[in-house]
Amino acid sequence: MSSGQCKPSVSGALLDWYRDSARDLPWRHTTEPYAIWISEIMLQQTQVKTVLPHYRLWFEKFPDIAALAEARIDDVLKAWEGLGYYRRARFIHAAARQIVAEHGGIFPEAFDDILRLPGVGRSTAGAIASFCFAASTPVLDGNVKRVLKRWHGLNQATDTMLWPLALQALDASGKPSDWNQAMMELGESLCSARAPLCDQCPVAAYCTVAFQVDETQEKRKAAAVRDVYWQVMLHTCPQRGIWLIRRPAAGIWGGLWAPPIYNLVEAPGDATAEHVHLLSHRRLHLYAEICSDEPTGEGAWVSDISAHALPTGIHHLFEKAGVIL
Ligand code: ADE
Repeated sequence: MSSGQCKPSVSGALLDWYRDSARDLPWRHTTEPYAIWISEIMLQQTQVKTVLPHYRLWFEKFPDIAALAEARIDDVLKAWEGLGYYRRARFIHAAARQIVAEHGGIFPEAFDDILRLPGVGRSTAGAIASFCFAASTPVLDGNVKRVLKRWHGLNQATDTMLWPLALQALDASGKPSDWNQAMMELGESLCSARAPLCDQCPVAAYCTVAFQVDETQEKRKAAAVRDVYWQVMLHTCPQRGIWLIRRPAAGIWGGLWAPPIYNLVEAPGDATAEHVHLLSHRRLHLYAEICSDEPTGEGAWVSDISAHALPTGIHHLFEKAGVIL
């Protein structure tokens, strides 16, 4: 404990640990709102190791908010390729336009203005406001919720119960930015959902359930994945490439480009899926159907897929089905 003559506290213990052990991540070296905002949206549903390469490239493609606002949505979706949950890319694009229209292209500082940006909820707004503007605004993402529930022994706590606890702890720390980062770091590392490492935890002494965590709660949550079976129609032509359509904005892979897809009511008895792709709530079994007829309806022949945003599952299917473009 580095707090000298002060009484040991949960704040001191966690902040000391964060200072000494936190991962060196690019968004922790800046308070620039555009850089922080993009990192927080990318990190909402995607792991740090997946985010890192996309994060670095993002600013080469869209160096500032004005460039992002002017970009075509297809280029934004392309830059998002591989991160999943593509709604976030459309939100970012719309938010950049909102910032230009309503705030002269300058990222807003007021919490309520940040919260009004598409794709930004209370927790993300709290992260941005604390990291960029040192505001006393807590984060309450999935990791932080788990940490707070364990500390307080409140397994069933609702968000309504947790927000005041999050704010109280943040205020007690006196360092909103570091505190929020430290809570997220603890939840992503030692205080993970499965197999928490209480013996290494800097704040185990303050935790109601230390060394006796009930992991069954977490396991139950992970169970609800539904199988779906999709026939993917591959119309290919050496001169013209492959026939792709833009998927409807609502639903799986909304707004991305993919071959026409038909839903099968059940797994075909006589075929094996070329690729099985796991999403958060769906296991997509993809069956490639090589088609020789001329496609109809709205779509485009695409010979250079580097100009179109395709779902990662479709890239994998192409590889496995031998589609070379
Ligand atoms: N998850 C969400 N925000 C994060 C951050 N700033 N650092 C690490 N993980 C995060």
